[in-house]
Amino acid sequence: MSVEDLGGRPVIIGGGIAGLMTALHLAPEPVLLLSRTPLGAEASSAWAQGGLAASLGDDDDPALHLADTLAAGDGLCDGEMASRILNAAPGAIETLAGFGVRFDRIPEGTPRLGLEAAHSRRRIVHADGDGSGREIMRALVAAVRSTPTIEVVEGFEARRLAVEDGRIAGVLMSGPAGPVFFATGRVVLATGGIGGLFDDSTNPLGSCGQGLALAARAGAALADLEFIQFHPTALDGSNRPMTLISEAVRGEGATIVDETGRRFLDGVRGAELAPRDIVARAVWNHLADGHRVFLDAREKPGPAFAGQFPTIASACSKAGLDPARDLIPVRPAQHYHMGGVAVDGSGRTSVAGLLACGEVASTGLHGANRLASNSLTEAVVCARCVAESLSGTPARRTKPAIASDYPSPDPTPVRPLLSRALGVVRDGEGLKAAARTLLALAERKDAASDPAAVGLMIAMAALQRRESRGAHYRTDFPDHAAVARRSEITLQAALAAARELAPALESVT
Ligand code: SIN
Repeated sequence: MSVEDLGGRPVIIGGGIAGLMTALHLAPEPVLLLSRTPLGAEASSAWAQGGLAASLGDDDDPALHLADTLAAGDGLCDGEMASRILNAAPGAIETLAGFGVRFDRIPEGTPRLGLEAAHSRRRIVHADGDGSGREIMRALVAAVRSTPTIEVVEGFEARRLAVEDGRIAGVLMSGPAGPVFFATGRVVLATGGIGGLFDDSTNPLGSCGQGLALAARAGAALADLEFIQFHPTALDGSNRPMTLISEAVRGEGATIVDETGRRFLDGVRGAELAPRDIVARAVWNHLADGHRVFLDAREKPGPAFAGQFPTIASACSKAGLDPARDLIPVRPAQHYHMGGVAVDGSGRTSVAGLLACGEVASTGLHGANRLASNSLTEAVVCARCVAESLSGTPARRTKPAIASDYPSPDPTPVRPLLSRALGVVRDGEGLKAAARTLLALAERKDAASDPAAVGLMIAMAALQRRESRGAHYRTDFPDHAAVARRSEITLQAALAAARELAPALESVT
């Protein structure tokens, strides 16, 4: 049977945790799951070291989890959405366990709870120590492969969404034998993040905002794109993508020091466990002042390190480091995108028939700065909402279209632009300069134009936010605006605004 013969089924684009969970929740309704690579091979989900945040401890409850999430989000979370998602978090752990995920447990049998930055309670559920994503993907891929109604199509990449009369009408994809048009009225984006648009990221290089480009070119609204999370402790070395040194290591007592041994965060409220944006900025500024920065895990977790964090210990060992004996050199790296395709509580976007969940979606849970380990929780909870809102909707007859080819996205020329202008610290002139170059690239209609269009929307959203908040810090607007407002942008609006920017000055291009 060819892919076209399956026409009419809903299509899920993306084979990470959000996509797999949506497919599993939809079963036994037939669904097509599209993955660029063999399932699990390149999903950023599989790399997650942190686990899922859920208020499971005797000293915890969803209201405390919500309070921590809102505080980290710096005034920009959607409180109602956050409350819904976090109340469902304990159930998400049970759901995953039901699909065969083997969570780390204490001898009494309840999940072992870890601590990460800006959480007031131990509430991070891990699997396989620092291999949470890998273990969750193992179980979910096995569950998907044994569900006969889920048709997994690997090696196909979605290139465009067809829209007719404002509704989704199909997916133009590129497969091993060339372009294919798949007629469907229902598409779920679960494509992950944007790390591949940056020089320094902890994400797979192939995550370069494809879902944002698909949605934007279909006319969907995107929200909060300027909020990009930088993880303060990526292993400083030549490996790309960079190796993450989980925040859970700091949760177990490791400290951040400079080359003199000084804990330069000790004056900051929460110190090493302050919200991630604050720690990332402090590390960034200290490096910019000419210092070197290290994670010191020699005392705590000390000799227990390799047992607790086997994946990180092995990566350090490849770099010639033993965390129980050596300081670990670290620097901030792009890690997560709080912004995404704007969705409602059922995962619906502004285009009829198009839904989204996981990192590509913006529910409003994370606000201006995501609380650690809230994202896998969000992916699992929201995948159910998306499946429920799709379930039972009739297959709409859509017209087959001619399958034309679009080049595979190449973010190479975009990376230095975003890395320079949209990093931990930003300013208006840098953003304008990047926007002008991104506009030219986006208009070229070649392999760089989709990544450039995504970069342009992010740059314009950052330019239009004339304040500093959460992960968005501008030296020319260092304070909060009086009123916190979420942002929304479309590709059309970003292109129009960029065309109005004054011509580039030699000194800023
Ligand atoms: C980490 O383990 O530090 C990352 C967890 C997360 O990004 O939520």
